Amino acid sequence: MKRWQWMIGGVAAIAMCSVAGLRAADEAKAKHSVKEIMAKCMKSGLCKKVADGKASKAETQALVAMLSELPKNKAPKGDADSWSTKTAAVADAAKAVGEGKDGAGAALAKAANCAACHKEHKPS
Ligand code: HEC
Repeated sequence: MKRWQWMIGGVAAIAMCSVAGLRAADEAKAKHSVKEIMAKCMKSGLCKKVADGKASKAETQALVAMLSELPKNKAPKGDADSWSTKTAAVADAAKAVGEGKDGAGAALAKAANCAACHKEHKPS
C-alpha cells in the first residue's frame, strides 16, 4: 500500500472517532435517564396529576424540568425520528402546562401515551 493510502485511512479513522465522541457528549447532556424520568414522572403519577391540573406549581415545574430531558436521551429502541417526535411532544406539552396555556393539560395527557411509546421504544 502506498503512503497516501495510509494517510487517507488515518484521516477517516480520526473523523470516525470524533463523531463517536460528539455522540457520547450528546447523550451525557441528558441530566435524567429515560428510566429515571419514567419512575419520577410517569409511574409516580406526577405527569397525570399535572395533566389533570391537580399539581402544585412546584410539582409542575419539576415535571417540566425532567420531561425536558427526555428528548435529550437516545431512544433505547426503535426509530430515532419517531422518538424525537414523541419525546418533543411530551416535553412541549409539559412546558405549555407550566406556562398555563389553555388545553395544555389535555395535550399532555395525549402526548404521554404510555402504550403507544412503549410499543415502539421500550426494550422488552
Ligand atoms: C415518549 C415515550 C414514552 C412515554 C410517553 C412513556 N414511556 Fe415509559 N418508557 C419509555 C421507554 C423508552 C422506556 C424504557 C427505558 C429503558 O429501558 O431504558 C420506558 C420504561 C418505563 C418503565 C420501566 C422503567 C424501568 O426502570 O425499567 C415504566 C414503569 C414506565 N415506562 C411507565 C410509563 C407510564 C406509566 C407511562 C404513561 C403515563 C409512560 N411510561 C409513558 C418511553 C415512554
